[in-house]
Amino acid sequence: MLKSLSNAVGVSGYEDEVAELIKSEMEKYADEVEIDKMGNVIGLKRGKGKGKIMLAAHMDEIGFVVSHIDKNGFIFISPVGGINVKTLISRRVIVHGNERYYGIMGSVPPHIKEKEEKELSIEDIFVDIGAKDREEVLKKGIKVGSIITYDGDLKKLSGRRYTSKTMDDRIGVFVLMETLKKAKSSYDIYFVATVQEEVGLRGAKTSGYKISPDIGIAVDVTLANDIPEVKEHKRITELGKGPAITIMDRSVIGNKRLNSFIEKIAQEENIPLQRNILSRGGTDAGTIHLTKEGVISTTLSIPTRFVHSTVECVDMNDVENAVKLLVKVLEKLDSFAVYQEKKTYSTYGRSRKQSYE
Ligand code: CO
Ligand code: ZN
Repeated sequence: MLKSLSNAVGVSGYEDEVAELIKSEMEKYADEVEIDKMGNVIGLKRGKGKGKIMLAAHMDEIGFVVSHIDKNGFIFISPVGGINVKTLISRRVIVHGNERYYGIMGSVPPHIKEKEEKELSIEDIFVDIGAKDREEVLKKGIKVGSIITYDGDLKKLSGRRYTSKTMDDRIGVFVLMETLKKAKSSYDIYFVATVQEEVGLRGAKTSGYKISPDIGIAVDVTLANDIPEVKEHKRITELGKGPAITIMDRSVIGNKRLNSFIEKIAQEENIPLQRNILSRGGTDAGTIHLTKEGVISTTLSIPTRFVHSTVECVDMNDVENAVKLLVKVLEKLDSFAVYQEKKTYSTYGRSRKQSYE
């Protein structure tokens, strides 16, 4: 399942292929599944009407659209989502026209030192599909606006570690699927595979509005900078040490009561859990928590090395622990108070009881 999920195509705004795959899989376990106007896949597993919880993982991936085809058949590109130009040179990509065509992201060989090496920009990158001129490219149904995705199939590394082009965030979708299979809750659970997260958390905004949940949890990746040269205080999370709860990122401050509720469950169930603080980037929780009058929200993340490259890498132990934790959280949600008891203060000074305290 993870293989077909992560190999599927779904650049932001063009999620149809991956959406169909997710929908057909969700239909096996959910009470209702729909694809809404924006393209979000929403699966509902009914509880006992206690409230509504929304679990969101984005199914879109970063990629490119064709911006120009020159007379020699070279294709120029515009990025969709946060692309790190340094990761592009010598990449194999797939250009989507009438069929799928392999392309390569070229660079000038070191033997030809025409210019001083300068900071590379996306405008310098071109894709070569092997065509001899523009006509040959056009004949393949490739035009301005055609999408381009990375060629980066899921591969197993040592131990329980895996790499693919789209761990961000098909691994989150995978966690949702596995949770859906096992989840029991007094809450109605909405499993949402969102669109257009990579271009600004857009699908979560509209699906959040439609569902209007009491609680929202985004499941996404976070940085695991546990690699050479990165100092200890800059590692954020580490692979294999459990999923991570978001204290804060650029889009949301994880709800402190929900976070402690989740941390308490992790402790009770002996599930390792890390704490995530990101100074850049955000997740779907960033828009979910601002829905209508506000939603208690946080993010559960899978630590991932090399985020936003073609070799994003995760540890399946973290993935399994994320599923385990979510299932337990859903099960015990009854004991979480969405509304806190209000402390009442009289307008005319303190009540007698408080004045004695
Ligand atoms: Co991303
Ligand atoms: Zn993501």
